[in-house]
Amino acid sequence: MRNKPSAVILYLVIFFTACRHEIAELNPAFQTATVDTANGTKPIDTTNNPINITCNPDTVYFASQFFPLIQSSCAMSGCHDAVTKADGIVLTDYANIMKIVRAGDPVNSKLYKSLIDSDPEDRMPMAPVPPFNQTQIALVYKWIQQGAKNNACTNTTSSACVTTNMSFVNNVLPIFTINCNGCHNATAPAGGINLTTFAGTKAASARLVGSISHTTGYVPMPSSTTKLSACDINKIASWVSQGTLNN
Ligand code: HEC
Repeated sequence: MRNKPSAVILYLVIFFTACRHEIAELNPAFQTATVDTANGTKPIDTTNNPINITCNPDTVYFASQFFPLIQSSCAMSGCHDAVTKADGIVLTDYANIMKIVRAGDPVNSKLYKSLIDSDPEDRMPMAPVPPFNQTQIALVYKWIQQGAKNNACTNTTSSACVTTNMSFVNNVLPIFTINCNGCHNATAPAGGINLTTFAGTKAASARLVGSISHTTGYVPMPSSTTKLSACDINKIASWVSQGTLNN
């Protein structure tokens, strides 16, 4: 009998942990997940942000890289949006993200540790979203290591957006990795669309450009408040118009 209260507590812990898992696996809202806007998804306050600089290829930027990745893989309804708050964690804005990040110290940051947890029950993102691939993990690591800044950049030279000879692997897929694969992956392809492979992308290519350009008659993507940059839209549109090649 002495052990009973602790047994009850253990049961409750298991129950609620299991419940969290079911939210991610069974919540039908997940498939049509949108990023919560109640808490404000505007990634960066450009009026008050002094760090709006020319893009440096060696820097990972919060506004254009880190935030869209977290937004498309973690901050959807049923997970870490301001309504569901799975495990009390909200990942819809910089201030909340910083609650599980130690600037400059990725290996002691809860956010980073959760990505590489060896226990699939604790590893994030949780099924049906697949674990982050090496590119995504490296991006998170680097952003935290570089100080986890609320930074943004602009390409100032007119030649910055190159759209000639677009390659699926080198130009298109990296955009999907950051902005789309949390929803459009092989294990739980939102809307039946898998944007992790050439075949899956080719199958969706007729809807692709209209969707990312937010053309009337298409479902606007990504299904969050942040539209892709004009350069990224141009790159994808150019790849399609250059023949949708497996290159
Ligand atoms: C938060 C989840 C989520 C993210 C992030 C997301 N999508 Fe989607 N996408 C969906 C869902 C759900 C549908 C199905 C919507 C429907 O049929 O109403 C969809 C549909 C689409 C469609 C079909 C649109 C149409 O009009 O038929 C395309 C193309 C698409 N997504 C591309 C993308 C691209 C490219 C990205 C990244 C730049 C992206 N999506 C990011 C969830 C997402």
